[in-house]
Amino acid sequence: MLILSVVGARPNFMKMAPIILELKNLNMHNMLIHTGQHYDWNMSEVFFKDLSIKKPDIFLNVGSSSHSVQTADVMVKFEKICVKHKPKLIIVAGDVNSTLACALVAAKMCIPLAHVESGLRSFDNKMPEEINRILTDRISDLLFVTEKSGIDNLITEGFSREKIHFVGNSMIDSLVTHLDKAIQLKPWQKFDLEINTYCLITMHRPSNVDNDEALKNIISMLNNLSKKIPVIFPVHPRTRNNLKKLSLEVNNNVIIADPMSYLVFIGLLAKARIVITDSGGIQEETTFLGIQCITFRENTERPVTINEGTNHLVGVNVDSVLKKINDVLNGETKKGNVPEKWDGNSSKRISNIIARFLK
Ligand code: UD1
Repeated sequence: MLILSVVGARPNFMKMAPIILELKNLNMHNMLIHTGQHYDWNMSEVFFKDLSIKKPDIFLNVGSSSHSVQTADVMVKFEKICVKHKPKLIIVAGDVNSTLACALVAAKMCIPLAHVESGLRSFDNKMPEEINRILTDRISDLLFVTEKSGIDNLITEGFSREKIHFVGNSMIDSLVTHLDKAIQLKPWQKFDLEINTYCLITMHRPSNVDNDEALKNIISMLNNLSKKIPVIFPVHPRTRNNLKKLSLEVNNNVIIADPMSYLVFIGLLAKARIVITDSGGIQEETTFLGIQCITFRENTERPVTINEGTNHLVGVNVDSVLKKINDVLNGETKKGNVPEKWDGNSSKRISNIIARFLK
């Protein structure tokens, strides 16, 4: 009864780590496959250390390329693994290219497929992630949903209720497990910051950072904001490459950092005054932590963070974003609640359902 769990890019690691541990607790035979979509030490290996997960059993080493080449490379290499090991189930998580690539291999080889973080929809087909989500869900047998909007989306798309399992958020399981340790590390001290007084920003969506004008506007927004509050900006490789290309510079009050380890990042996140991001996962983590989050996007596939959490969806007009940030800094904050089933036990629910499915 071999299971293959797939990871490939940074956000996969925290979603899959607690599931791997729970499958082990149930004595299930699980092999971890890393596609190599992310490969830098600080985009990949460091998370294995922080999350205490075993090293991947197999590393496919696909690296970076165009979306089609990357997806195809993963498919060719992953199919060979499936032919050799004949798994009874494949587990994929999230919405990155590796997710869809391995899902397609599963479907073509008639291997049952489980999708962790199913049903999320931004309704924006220009996002590569939206295509990856829709197609992966379509061919999955077990749909593990993090928030209720996911159930509604899947029902609207015609999925039968039996396939849909509202389990909560396994990425929040990782946060629950590691938060205390992360805070004890006091990562803000390393950057000469004080708790609850700084702004943490991340930005890596192609729509924000691959467009020269958009990226220039973001940097000018940061320079402007940093006159009021210290800003710390761990820079994703995609963003770093584009900043370099455009020779864009930031003020002294903006701290530019390399991509951070999981513990350093969630420690900084937990004690930020305000967070600005275009990431999906960070919208959820800030909601769990009750930290005000400014989402620099026109849409979100995670509406629970807006309706129940501390997330503010503000669009990408720099003037209106700056105004919203000022309002929030002046006390117009959202109270927010932790969404249903984001309780640290999602991976237990997922592994129990998998165990029943494989019986
Ligand atoms: C991918 C995911 C995105 C996710 C993000 C998290 C897709 C379509 N996108 O985007 O959903 O939010 O990961 O980080 O799957 N690079 C490095 N080192 C690395 C990895 C990448 O330098 O370890 C550079 C390369 O120049 C590469 C670029 O970053 O071309 C982008 O990497 P890629 O994996 O293609 O997409 P991300 O922007 O990371």
